[in-house]
Amino acid sequence: MYHVSLPQRGFFDVWRDNARRFLVHHVPPDEIFWDRGGDEGLFTGTAAPEMDGPADVTVTRSFLKTAASVLCHTQANAPALLYEALYRHQTDRRALENPADPLSRKLARLRKAVARDVHKMHAFVRFRELPSDGPRRRFGAWFEPDHLILETATPFFARRFADMDWTIATPTGVACFEAGDLSFHPPAERPKLPEDTSEALWGTYFSNIFNPARLHLQAMRSEMPLKYWKNLPETRLIPDMLADAESRVAAMHAAMPTQAPARAERILNRLSVPEISALPRTMGDARDAASRCRRCTLCEAATQTVWGEGDASAPLMIVGEQPGDNEDIAGRPFVGPAGQLLTRLIKDAGIGAVWKTNAVKHFKFRPRGKRRIHQSPDRNEIEQCRWWLDLERRLVKPKLVLALGASAAYALTGTDLPLRARRGEIETALDGGAVMLSWHPSHILRLSGNAASRARSELLADLRAAGAMAGNAEPSNTHTPHRNTRLGYLRNPPF
Ligand code: URA
Repeated sequence: MYHVSLPQRGFFDVWRDNARRFLVHHVPPDEIFWDRGGDEGLFTGTAAPEMDGPADVTVTRSFLKTAASVLCHTQANAPALLYEALYRHQTDRRALENPADPLSRKLARLRKAVARDVHKMHAFVRFRELPSDGPRRRFGAWFEPDHLILETATPFFARRFADMDWTIATPTGVACFEAGDLSFHPPAERPKLPEDTSEALWGTYFSNIFNPARLHLQAMRSEMPLKYWKNLPETRLIPDMLADAESRVAAMHAAMPTQAPARAERILNRLSVPEISALPRTMGDARDAASRCRRCTLCEAATQTVWGEGDASAPLMIVGEQPGDNEDIAGRPFVGPAGQLLTRLIKDAGIGAVWKTNAVKHFKFRPRGKRRIHQSPDRNEIEQCRWWLDLERRLVKPKLVLALGASAAYALTGTDLPLRARRGEIETALDGGAVMLSWHPSHILRLSGNAASRARSELLADLRAAGAMAGNAEPSNTHTPHRNTRLGYLRNPPF
């Protein structure tokens, strides 16, 4: 059995030197005992065998990074796990990239814990100024990390505070930065650090950013674990702030304005729903009423209401989701890329008269720079707009409605089960009418290769079948029968 004792500082070089020698002599992991015995007696027991020449051992850059991090973990078997990984790494470079591999998972866990510790050290070291008789200011700090991260974490402070001298003392070692040189030393007694004038500033800042109404103790403890509190000046304020939180929130509530702001009336007027008693009787009146619709907030950002278009006595109505960017500007449905694809397919399907419209009449989008990115309407928006869709259907009286995409399917059937199992079927609309479901053309435009051509053929087949059922196209002999077809609807449309 070989025995390697790693020092508290410089352990990475010692581990690497020994690991190389073991590998050159093909020593398997279970014949080595690694321990963190400290600086004394580096090699007790049988030391690693000597090498005759240069080591023929290589590792990937990512392995090296993992090794440097994992070795900082205080878990006793961290160096052994790492050697086991290195041993495997010689014959299988990808094994450790497999997240399902147990050894790779163990190393990832250790690495993550070390990274968190380093992050906490960077965030929670608090320097206090010390007297200086030279031109550079001097600072000192005390910190208690969970792992052996002094050498890994302190170069960050050397970069950030390069113009001052500082010392960070920890229970396992001391880092000194003097005149631009960073050096590491054995642990010393905890230094007595003076009170700092900037502590009052920290306290003021911390109590000012503390919002009692957003107090979330668990999140606070996870961001700033309790063990660090004793060394952070600002945390002395926390108990008092917590004690006051409830009464401060109550005071905030009591101070809330009771008067509605002046603009509220204007907003309420604009959002008022059109009078149902004035139900439009013609398509022109309906379009006009819809142009003033305030049933939901989508009207706020959209350019205009996009009403349906086509033959107002067509036996087939096609319902999409909502106008897109092009339709919003043109004020007409299906004029953009998806609309052009639909128009081509309607022609290929040999469909005659059709009324084309949307489940939602306003464009919903999220601005990104100068672009307007499409957002799917939510349930409430679809439900609010159903009022218009129902009116449109009452005026057109189609024999069959073809719903394209999930939003149209939900608007008409009130069900949002996945479309995959439902397309090509006839379903019952909320008012008892007949609705066939199919893909939305923009879904097809987002696909590529075989998936795109399959979806395109399916929409074409559905259009052919819908046209034939509504009686305004030649029946297709390629379409499969519809499971839920209830042709009774077609003879006795619900309107
Ligand atoms: N997509 C739709 O659902 N409707 C349009 O009018 C345009 C694109």
